[in-house]
Amino acid sequence: MAAQRELPAVPRQVLPREAYVDDAWFERERHELFANTWSFAGVTYDWKEPGDFKTVQAGPYPLVVLRNKEGELQAFHNLCRHRGTELLEGCGNTGRSIVCPYHTWTYELDGTFRGMPKEKICFPDIDKTKLNLKPAALGVFKGLVFVHPSAEPDESFETWLADLPGVAWPHDITSSELKEGSADVVYEMKCNWKVFFENAIDGYHLAYLHKNTLGGPVADKNLWETHGRHLVWYSTEQDGSKNRLPKLVDDHLAASGAKKVKGAEEPGYGGVYMLFPDIAITTSPYSFSLSKLEPIDANTTLLTLRAWSVRSWLSSEDKIKDIPGYDPESGRIKSSHWKVHPLETEDFQTEDVWVCEKMQRSLHSPAHQVSTLARGAGGEAPLTFFQQSVLDFVPLEAMPAAAE
Ligand code: FES
Ligand SMILES: [Fe+2]
Repeated sequence: MAAQRELPAVPRQVLPREAYVDDAWFERERHELFANTWSFAGVTYDWKEPGDFKTVQAGPYPLVVLRNKEGELQAFHNLCRHRGTELLEGCGNTGRSIVCPYHTWTYELDGTFRGMPKEKICFPDIDKTKLNLKPAALGVFKGLVFVHPSAEPDESFETWLADLPGVAWPHDITSSELKEGSADVVYEMKCNWKVFFENAIDGYHLAYLHKNTLGGPVADKNLWETHGRHLVWYSTEQDGSKNRLPKLVDDHLAASGAKKVKGAEEPGYGGVYMLFPDIAITTSPYSFSLSKLEPIDANTTLLTLRAWSVRSWLSSEDKIKDIPGYDPESGRIKSSHWKVHPLETEDFQTEDVWVCEKMQRSLHSPAHQVSTLARGAGGEAPLTFFQQSVLDFVPLEAMPAAAE
């Protein structure tokens, strides 16, 4: 993206309905968007020792991030150079080398090919210098690790970050003061990933859908700022200056005796950072949480939430069981397991999932239409901004039927 795109003065729906429900659209997003942008892989301390690895899917590309013998993080395509078998699964430690389970071709931790069995008999004239693991790109920002399937991406990590490094940032999650909860919370949502993303950047709904939980702010008292393709949110309802939290939540937390993170009084950082395309970061003087969206198909999205605080009160296995929709069998949060109406749960995330799943159902109607969007940085202008970013990767012209 050359120049910074601004929020539009007159926002409008620019993505067609098909973009949210169509399998062909979903496939295009996998191959044209997620394959060509930066995906969140983890936090630097997820890889403590040499050999520690974690796999991550970026669109159609299975990748793996490893800590090598020198202690550096490197990213590779998770494919054996023999016949392309998936090398590593999930996360763990691979020891001093990477060994393919199929025919035991072996690689150093820096991706260099080491050897194969029966080389002289089976591969007498092979050029081993051409068998190193295919590299992917890796970038680190504030302890967050991102990967890109291309070793030399068209959009470099610095370009993708844009001016975010100069924007006030809440907490250092790799510091000893902040503790991560003992378990991730996984929501399985029956909606397109963009429906959830758009709901998260819709300032217009906060005072209405969440009247009992967040209680605002109203459209002219909240503010979204753009940085590259990313969006940062502030509430201005308390005294007009930028703040992190809706007043109702701030008052509630202060009354609960929760302990603030050191340096939390420092002004100017945002309450929500939406990193395009798959990350939502929510912050407060008490906590930091990061949600990664993982699109499964056009109608299903996984949201994995990691949370940090001074005491790990946000996500522990016991706490997760109390989240509305907890399914003991899968350990995931699902609408099929809600026991009371979402609006009676006093949980704003449940309210959001409820409205996103409603929206997804209505998007399947050929009569579905968006008439107009609320103006302003605290209205629905961020939705148009986000949709334009999607269209940068998945242009409408390439799908004329959908552009009608
Ligand atoms: S596919 Fe990996 S060793 Fe054969
Ligand atoms: Fe919401």
